[in-house]
Amino acid sequence: MLIIRNLYVDPPLLLAPMAGVTHSAFRALLLQLGGVGLLSTEMLSARRLPMEQISCSPFLFSTEEEHPLSYQLLVAEKKHLAPAIARVEQLGGDAIDLNMGCPAPKVRCFGGGSKLVDDPENLRRLVAEARKCTTLPLTAKIRLGEELNEAHLLNLCGMLEGEGIDLLTVHARLRKEPFCRKPRWEWVGKVKKKLSIPVVANGGIFTVADARRCLELSGADGLMLGRGAVIKPWLFHEIAVELYGCKLPDLDIDRPSIYNNFIDLLENRFRPERRLGRLKEFTHYFSETYPFGLRLASIIQTSNSVEEAREKANLFFSRSNRVS
Ligand SMILES: Cc1cc2nc3c(=O)[nH]c(=O)nc-3n(C[C@H](O)[C@H](O)[C@H](O)COP(=O)(O)O)c2cc1C
Repeated sequence: MLIIRNLYVDPPLLLAPMAGVTHSAFRALLLQLGGVGLLSTEMLSARRLPMEQISCSPFLFSTEEEHPLSYQLLVAEKKHLAPAIARVEQLGGDAIDLNMGCPAPKVRCFGGGSKLVDDPENLRRLVAEARKCTTLPLTAKIRLGEELNEAHLLNLCGMLEGEGIDLLTVHARLRKEPFCRKPRWEWVGKVKKKLSIPVVANGGIFTVADARRCLELSGADGLMLGRGAVIKPWLFHEIAVELYGCKLPDLDIDRPSIYNNFIDLLENRFRPERRLGRLKEFTHYFSETYPFGLRLASIIQTSNSVEEAREKANLFFSRSNRVS
């Protein structure tokens, strides 16, 4: 179990914030399958958050069951923090995460994500301000930096801890490294040894064996799963049972019913025009569990409605049952 300030995260398995993916329907799917300790939104612009209409925002919509839920803020300027944090509190968020790792040029060019760590003094002021604004658990998510530089990385992490960050997630890749590169889990271990707050390892966990190896190499206090949990939404359950000894009901992993259930969840939560894009994002990853998954991804990609996508997916499932 992880304790972040006053929040219990049990098991210490966190959902990674993922734009276009970690919305209410996906979070609900994970809760049904079990094993996730802390849910997350996708990154939310701190500047825009106070203006978003809760009733029609697909980014903010969430249900009573989706707890504990961390809201990730994408922030570049100190002045946006107080209104954004007040909004998260009003929405009933359980924790606030600051995005310090996003390498996307679109995000960096306005000074957010990984760009923040280029100016540690500015970042220090930003974190101090965030800490002043809330008593909620305040966490941060970073990458390893521009290049491998242990002293630089540990100074940065020490500063974050000193300014009141309650938990640090380290995505074990350098800023420019692509997702296909092997993660450097041992570097999370260097951070873990330096800090007293909990350190969570992220990057490249797709199986129980990956999770075990990551824990061995990093000694991390918890794990954060991203793409692995979209490819296999039952991965949290597997890791929770096998590595953390959680007593969860046995799972019957029936992929077609998980997929259809996900479509139902989208239909229950989002307006029709918001559903198909989200189904395509999900399918891009979920299809990887099938040997001919590219076919599934491409038929969903070219579908013009959720109804058409559902029908084609079910045809694909019935054919793939016959060949396997
Ligand atoms: C589609 C997608 C969207 C992402 N969006 C975010 C985001 O909003 N905020 C963030 O901090 N990281 C984001 N990430 C990075 C993930 O949180 C995570 O650090 C990364 O995918 C590595 O973990 P994994 O190997 O388990 O996927 C995103 C990744 C993907 C694949």
